[in-house]
Amino acid sequence: MNKADKRGYPHYMLKEIYEQPEVIENTLKDRLIPGSEDINLSDIKLTQSDLDGVHRMVVVACGTSYHAGLAGKYLIEKFAGIPVEVEIASEFRYRDPAVDKNSLIIAISQSGETADTLDAMRKAKQKGARIIAISNVAGSTIPREADHSLYTCAGPEISIASTKAYTSQLIALYLLTLKLAQLKGGIDRETYRQRLEALSSLPEKARKMLDCSGEMKELAGRHKDMEKIIYLGRGLDYALALEGSLKLKETCYIHSAAYPAGEFRHGPMALVEEGLFVFFLATQDALLDKSLANLREIKDRGAYVVALAKEGSREVGEVADRVIYVPEVPDEFTSAPAVIPLQLFAYYMAAARGHDVDKPRSLVKSVTDS
Ligand code: G6P
Repeated sequence: MNKADKRGYPHYMLKEIYEQPEVIENTLKDRLIPGSEDINLSDIKLTQSDLDGVHRMVVVACGTSYHAGLAGKYLIEKFAGIPVEVEIASEFRYRDPAVDKNSLIIAISQSGETADTLDAMRKAKQKGARIIAISNVAGSTIPREADHSLYTCAGPEISIASTKAYTSQLIALYLLTLKLAQLKGGIDRETYRQRLEALSSLPEKARKMLDCSGEMKELAGRHKDMEKIIYLGRGLDYALALEGSLKLKETCYIHSAAYPAGEFRHGPMALVEEGLFVFFLATQDALLDKSLANLREIKDRGAYVVALAKEGSREVGEVADRVIYVPEVPDEFTSAPAVIPLQLFAYYMAAARGHDVDKPRSLVKSVTDS
């Protein structure tokens, strides 16, 4: 791998973070048709009759793909009204899961080759369930064996810590959710139209989010010797907190944990001491009051809080020590731009600590052995 492959970036991880606006554009391209209210998912070949009798969906995935799946659960349940469970593939495959011909499985895998996800999918298939694969590698085993497959268009991801593949999985799930909602008739026309418009604005919102790069570099440099960090959020922000925390563990080898902000009071709050670094994700307008109450409790106990909040959300700025503003998008889609500062923070901190950013110790890009 010569320097030219990195197109001037010091590491693939940074290059791939910066590619995200383009990746979002590519994943939406040909699927959102300008002037049309239809989403073209012809590649997935999913029709109304495929949903007849489907009473539950189960996502199986590992690592970062599992976190994208959690976001998918919130969205599909909200807009399509189908109950969704999200399962860690390495757990699902070794138990006797209650799935049958009326279950629809979503197997999410960047590589399309992760052994646990593949086996979980095969197990569900044996029990009669139908499978939708969301994958980034055409011709890989998971989409080949699935009944329906939806490709993400992230291009090759070299950095072991996944960034652009995660964002493209979110976009694929956004598209799939709206398609399912339309097929199930669970969404009114105006909401649907507004969400389509919001989807098409996401590349530009992600581009704008990248402007925080200098600030994240400075913040990461200042805190590079920290030993622990906590990520908190409610709803979709909890799914995002898990991904932010994983990025930091993978690249910085710092002990980090993510909790749903409301659950934090039931035990983990005892961890808070003067100066504890907390990333508080508060991008969900619908949950803002609840988030602010949690944020105040944590600040009162002396934590150092960096918050993510929507542009114009002044109250968060008044309580947190520092706020990174996320461009305005409907709550359901904020994770796509909001993950960028979390990725940049992990990247700059790993670089400042002198780690081999693209190849963290003990990790591989795809775990293909059982
Ligand atoms: C490995 C990688 C992770 C990735 C996970 C799932 O553990 O290090 O970055 O999220 O596998 O990979 P997949 O290709 O199935 O999405």
